[in-house]
Amino acid sequence: MVEPEDAMKWRALRPDSNTYDFRQGDEVVRFAQIHQMKIRGHCLVWDHDNPDWLTQGHFSSSRLSRLLHEHITRVIKHYKGQVFAWDVINEALDENGEVRDSIWYNKPGIGFSGQGTAYIEQVFRWAHKVDPKALLFYNEAEGEGLNRKSDAIYAMMKDFKRRNVPIDGVGLQMHVPTTEWDTPVMVAGLSANIARLTALGLQVHITELDVALPIDANGVPQAGDLLREADIYRNIVRACLDNPGCTAIQTWGFTDKYSWIGSHSRHICGQGLPFDRTYQPKSAYSAVLKELSAGRAPPH
Ligand code: XIL
Repeated sequence: MVEPEDAMKWRALRPDSNTYDFRQGDEVVRFAQIHQMKIRGHCLVWDHDNPDWLTQGHFSSSRLSRLLHEHITRVIKHYKGQVFAWDVINEALDENGEVRDSIWYNKPGIGFSGQGTAYIEQVFRWAHKVDPKALLFYNEAEGEGLNRKSDAIYAMMKDFKRRNVPIDGVGLQMHVPTTEWDTPVMVAGLSANIARLTALGLQVHITELDVALPIDANGVPQAGDLLREADIYRNIVRACLDNPGCTAIQTWGFTDKYSWIGSHSRHICGQGLPFDRTYQPKSAYSAVLKELSAGRAPPH
């Protein structure tokens, strides 16, 4: 499976309000077809990585609503039959589980300002109409274990399922810091969270896994950290495999050479992925391979 990091975001696809530039996204599709890979699409609605003409355009709510509806329709239609699953909306909640302020929610929003998850529901309904076969995901950061944000995601999903809002799954990003994730309690929280979401009849995809390590000026992590990283990878892969509703595990890139972690952490972290900067497999790679080879837990 392949997912473009940035090539299907607004900033890449939309040079201006009338134009769609699908070249980068199409390149990913071509690569996937040659290598017989599935494609996950990312992402149709987000408050980041948008072009300036959109964020600084001072559009009215009704104009924004039309722009977003048209964008979702055009992009899903363009990749219909190729993108099997979409991150329809990305990071709509804050760490307290409240709906985040954003251009799409309330600044000025698409017409549902102050109405909580109503705008999220709207974008899922629009997306489903265009490609009823595509799997539609809500993708979120830092709501992997049990905390206020994952409680809010769960509550939203429960409400959406009860009212037949067309949604198929939750994407857990899993950009995980080693400091928190080398404890069994975090992994147990992840398993419990996957279990409660899948019990609603949803799929869970791990969508953006990387395990950032503190590094020195030469890019070298502390002694033992690569093994700690491998353990974290192993535990996360196992938590997914042990639940039949967890149906994808994806890393955010694959080689440390092109990981976003460096620039994102101002170069104090790195080494987050299973392959090093020279494309050699690390301990994390062997750990993942071993767990995947062991497969899912046998049914009881
Ligand atoms: C990151 C990309 O990797 C970078 O290239 C880009 O500059 C910023 O966005 N959560 C997401 C991803 O859902 O879209 C982000 O990707 C990483 C955090």
